[in-house]
Amino acid sequence: MNEKYDLREIIDRHIGREGPLLPILHDVQDGFGCISEAHIVEIAAALNLSRAEVSGVVSFYHDFRRTPRVRPAIKLCRAEACQSRGVEALVAAVGEDARVELETVYCLGLCSVGPAALVGSEVHARLDEASLSALIERIAA
Ligand code: FES
Repeated sequence: MNEKYDLREIIDRHIGREGPLLPILHDVQDGFGCISEAHIVEIAAALNLSRAEVSGVVSFYHDFRRTPRVRPAIKLCRAEACQSRGVEALVAAVGEDARVELETVYCLGLCSVGPAALVGSEVHARLDEASLSALIERIAA
């Protein structure tokens, strides 16, 4: 277990709420970087849910990860508005970079200023080849 975070404390913080599962999962994801099988077992027991119910929620939402990230991620929108603003050509121009994970997401609510991306909670809009390359260099460093 990550020493900085305590799963039991996260569960206790939310267990009295209506619909505690999603807030618990978000805090576990934020704190531990993933939601492991051991987390699922303990959360299911605490909420009196089956492991399958908790696993189903974890696998339904793309933001929840079962294993920690090994590379920093850029969540790049590849939905229709960003496609019409050239995101596919942008990806082709920048290419793959082994140091960074270009994760596809669908709509960040920034359609009028796409192509758009998220790095953590940091929003990037109007991306072009130069700004995306600079972003990759910055987070890969
Ligand atoms: Fe890309 Fe909405 S389609 S932000």
